[in-house]
Amino acid sequence: MDSKAEIALLRDQLDRWSAAYHRDDEPEATDAEYDRAIARLRELEAVHPELLLSTSPTQRIGDTPLSEFTSVTHRRPMLSLDNAFSGEDLQAFDERIVSRLGESVTAYCCEPKLDGVALSLLYRDGQLIQAATRGDGTTGEDVTHNARTIRNIPLTLVGTRFPSELEVRGEVVIPRSAFQQMNSRLLKSGEKVFQNPRNAASGSLRQLDPRITAKRPLSFMAYSVGYTSGEPLPDTHFDILQTLKGWGFTVSNLTSRVTDWQTAEAYAADILAQRADIEVDIDGVVIKVDSMPLQESLGAVSRAPRWAIARKFPAQEEVTQLLAVDFQVGRTGAITPVARLEPVFVGGVTVSNATLHNADEIARLGVKVRDFVVVRRAGDVIPQVVKVLTERRVGSEVDVVFPTVCPVCSSTVVRDQDEAVQRCDNTLGCSAQQKAALQHFVSRKAMDIDGVGEKLLEQLFDDGLVVDASDLFSLSVAQLSGLDRMGEKSAQNTVKAIADSRQTTLARFLYSLGIREVGEATALSLANHFGELDAIAQASTEALEEVPDVGPIVASHVYRYFRQDLTQAFLLRLIERGVSWPVIDTSVESVGPFIGQTWVVTGKLEAMSRDAAAEAIRALGGQTATSVSSKTSVVLAGPGAGSKLSKAESLGLQIINEAEFLKRLESAS
Ligand code: IVH
Repeated sequence: MDSKAEIALLRDQLDRWSAAYHRDDEPEATDAEYDRAIARLRELEAVHPELLLSTSPTQRIGDTPLSEFTSVTHRRPMLSLDNAFSGEDLQAFDERIVSRLGESVTAYCCEPKLDGVALSLLYRDGQLIQAATRGDGTTGEDVTHNARTIRNIPLTLVGTRFPSELEVRGEVVIPRSAFQQMNSRLLKSGEKVFQNPRNAASGSLRQLDPRITAKRPLSFMAYSVGYTSGEPLPDTHFDILQTLKGWGFTVSNLTSRVTDWQTAEAYAADILAQRADIEVDIDGVVIKVDSMPLQESLGAVSRAPRWAIARKFPAQEEVTQLLAVDFQVGRTGAITPVARLEPVFVGGVTVSNATLHNADEIARLGVKVRDFVVVRRAGDVIPQVVKVLTERRVGSEVDVVFPTVCPVCSSTVVRDQDEAVQRCDNTLGCSAQQKAALQHFVSRKAMDIDGVGEKLLEQLFDDGLVVDASDLFSLSVAQLSGLDRMGEKSAQNTVKAIADSRQTTLARFLYSLGIREVGEATALSLANHFGELDAIAQASTEALEEVPDVGPIVASHVYRYFRQDLTQAFLLRLIERGVSWPVIDTSVESVGPFIGQTWVVTGKLEAMSRDAAAEAIRALGGQTATSVSSKTSVVLAGPGAGSKLSKAESLGLQIINEAEFLKRLESAS
């Protein structure tokens, strides 16, 4: 094959793989295959620079920086939307339309209102030729160099029957999990964090240097078509979106066509209820007249169309006053500053506390007590202070002073090398750490001791009845019934619950010890790999690092834990008092409860990565695959699962969620 043909073939293949991966969440190639193909293409393009196209998949890494932005005049203005804040507002919107048209509307298209940055993409003969920001709606900035680095923006459209000129509009977003990962990386390395995913997306898109943009986890979601010429498009908005999907664009899978405003309002309520589980920040839903001819005849008033409206959700950012900063000592001794706030309604709940993370973050924010601050609560994420309104200072604000000794036990506060966190160094003697360790030990995912809550533990600890977790197992009914608010009957129940919990699994037991960096998933991997506690306790750091998901840091924490003087005695006491678990047989490979089963893992998991889940499945004898077919036995689906889940549903396969999966792992181990 000549180079020209090979280049064409590679580009076509890479574009298809890219669409399968980003649009369909249904990889057709492994990462290694993709990397090999792109390396080969790069090699060929280097030898034949005359064959290099700006739309080549090799161009996604970002080329040379620009010295300034050029402006782009939109062929059709990029409008904004009017807002509706209630069902009545939506009804009024519908009534305005009906009276204008003289007929009722029988279809609305409902979509999430994505909280990102608008972007217009221009394609000529299926090739991306220009990308522009919204700007003032009439003129925006040319950000083509940056748009090319966004992985799910097709550089070449998939298929054939597209208009010769096509402008696709949509929103550039950063999924919340990627945003959090990015910010915690920045926080750890002492860099400036972003206020929210929208600011991060906007800042990333407006970079002169596309190599910076290429490193940001940006994603483009198409929501409409602007200018087109040539081949006509479908005559409903909903069908246009489906067509865009076919050409390789990502379109929200929450898009839905409804028949009237009441159903649109119900849609809004439904999306609001799911808000925390949706991967990207949304600030409402957009309701659009579905018929394109009707949209045309309705037209626009000033800067907003008459045919669409944004049904807004409660804001996820609000302003409130910082009343005080308290310092909490966690299980690992980490000292976390907590902002006490004037209560404020944000993200659908009343917030009166927010985390300030660590001393670096306080310094970065420059926050003082009595400052007015912007508080953000997105989904079920812990509320954060993201910004200080320095312009609202009156002079009575006071600096936050970080404690130099532990606020609970007065021991020295230390700061580990390369870590932004300050810790109380009195690991075994600080009552805050001891209490937190006890709470962790009894918690649901650890030893799961029913009826032993925070209050009771506090009382037991303060009365000296329980110093460490092993003391729980020698508590008597008489000791317990002597406590406040504890009758004979509930004392009996508690003793029984504690006794019942002794029969456990190695994974749970390991997790309950509260070893630093050993979460549920790591505990499970360690248990499955070594099979017994002694083997883990005696393992070298090298041997520990052989376990999937265990890196040098985790290995060193585990290693050190088992070499502390008090650990051996503590473990011995627990075992003497009856804590036990079945031994796991690790000697034979590919046996186990999942033998003969093929699993597919999709969507977001909470307790572990998808890789770790797959590892656990294989450890129990199962096989894992990346795509769903009739050969699939079980699909493990987390929130955000897309086409794989729908396919599994249509094939009538067994689908389980993460909670069920963890149960199966546990009963298998
Ligand atoms: S339609 C003329 N659909 O919201 C119609 N816009 O406040 C306007 N937005 O600048 C575009 N999600 O960037 C539309 N599903 C969606 C949207 C959406 C977010 C943004 C868009 C626009 C702003 C208007």
